[in-house]
Order: sequence, then C-alpha cells, then structure tokens
Amino acid sequence: MLAAFVLSLAPAQAQTLTERIEQCGACHGADGNSTMEKIPSLAGQPEFFILNQLILIREGVRPIEAMQDAVKNLKDGDIVAIAAHFNKLIAKPAGDPPDPALVARGSQLSTKLRCTSCHGPTLTGDQQMPRLAKQRIDYMSAALKEYRDNKRKGADTAMTAVIYGLNDADIDAIAHYAASR
Ligand code: HEC
Ligand code: HEC
Repeated sequence: MLAAFVLSLAPAQAQTLTERIEQCGACHGADGNSTMEKIPSLAGQPEFFILNQLILIREGVRPIEAMQDAVKNLKDGDIVAIAAHFNKLIAKPAGDPPDPALVARGSQLSTKLRCTSCHGPTLTGDQQMPRLAKQRIDYMSAALKEYRDNKRKGADTAMTAVIYGLNDADIDAIAHYAASR
C-alpha cells in the first residue's frame, strides 16, 4: 500500500523509445498488424505517412481521443524513429477476410475512381499517401465514410473529392477490394 502511494508521487519518468513502441503496439498490434476493430495497422506504411500523421495527431489537427496519452510529450526524434520502426514491419491481412463478390465490385469502382493514381499501382502507398493493401476493412470503410461526410478532422481534402457521392455499399465494396491487394 505504502509502496504504491510513494510510486504514484514519484515524478513521471520519461518513456524510453522501446516503451513508446510497446504502447503503440497495444492498440496497433505488436507486429504492427492490428487485431482491434477500427484501429488501423501500421506495418509497412510509408515512413513519411506515419511521420506526417503523428505530427498532425500530436498537434491536435487530427484529434484522436484514444491516442492523447501516447502522443503526449512525443518528441520529433521519437516520431522519426517510430515511423522507421513500423515502416519496416511486414503488412499482413488483419481482421475479417475480403468477400470475393465485394472485391469484384470494388475493383471496378477503384478503376473508375483511379485510386492507384495516388495510392500506388498495388495500393501500397507512397509519401503522404497511406498503404491500403492488407489494411483492415472495417477501418477503411469507416474512414472513407468520414471523408465523404466531411467528418474527418484534419483530413486531406483530396480524399473527400474522390469519393464524393458514393453510397455505403460502394464504399464497403471498395474497402474489400483495397484490403485484398
Ligand atoms: C489506445 C489505443 C491507441 C494507442 C495506444 C495508439 N493509437 Fe494510434 N490510433 C488509434 C486509433 C483508434 C486510430 C484511428 C483513429 C481514426 O481515425 O479512426 C489511430 C491512428 C493512428 C495513426 C493513423 C494511421 C492511419 O492509417 O491513418 C497512426 C500513424 C498512429 N495511430 C500511430 C500510433 C503510434 C505511433 C502510437 C504510439 C506512439 C499509437 N498510434 C498509439 C489508437 C491508438
Ligand atoms: C488525389 C490523390 C488520391 C486519390 C485519387 C485517392 N486517395 Fe485515398 N488518400 C489520399 C491521401 C493524401 C490520404 C491521406 C489523407 C489524410 O491525410 O487524411 C488518403 C487516405 C485514404 C484512406 C485512409 C487510410 C488510412 O490509413 O488512414 C483510405 C481508406 C483511402 N485513402 C482510400 C482511397 C480509395 C479507395 C481511393 C479510390 C476510390 C482513393 N483513396 C483515392 C490521396 C488519394
């Protein structure tokens, strides 16, 4: 009892980089592939995408309630190292597997809307454009609906324009297709 009390009074120790990464892994998956609903995988994401998003999240431009504690006092140097760490991990399919019928429908929509022109020929992302291949379907579906409905704070407006006018079924199909790459 006394020990716990003393500990709670001790000044917060600065977290090491390893401790930071473990904290990220608790939500995003220890190997960077998320097993949690609506939490994106980070494995194999372009380094610049992770870095850019972490700065937006830390500065509150892209506010993520669940990440407040994780980005508090996160230094620029930590962000660079964390981005390099998750970029090097291998992306694996996570969450529910894609449905072949939806993949076929999503493929047509993706061609029409030219998703590959920004996200890369195999949707693995580039620079500030995220990897979509092997990303969780539930996460992408929710994110796309937020872009469409202008509910995603701090989002790049390029995405809102691309999916303007799609219905929920179109969006689900496109998320199944993207995840299947
Ligand atoms: C308590 C859970 C939790 C922790 C801990 C956490 N995150 Fe997140 N993170 C989330 C959620 C939830 C989202 C997605 C929010 C949304 O847009 O719906 C997210 C989004 C992200 C994104 C944007 C990814 C994308 O594809 O758009 C990055 C990058 C990220 N987190 C990195 C980190 C890093 C690095 C750490 C550790 C320093 C971390 N997160 C810790 C829950 C967490
Ligand atoms: C003009 C370039 C462009 C085109 C075309 C484009 N995207 Fe994007 N997309 C982006 C950028 C940039 C981001 C990062 C947005 C941000 O910062 O919020 C993004 C983010 C996303 C995300 C969020 C992923 C994550 O991990 O947070 C999804 C899902 C997505 N795009 C799907 C698509 C799909 C599906 C298509 C085709 C229908 C498409 N995009 C076409 C530029 C584009």
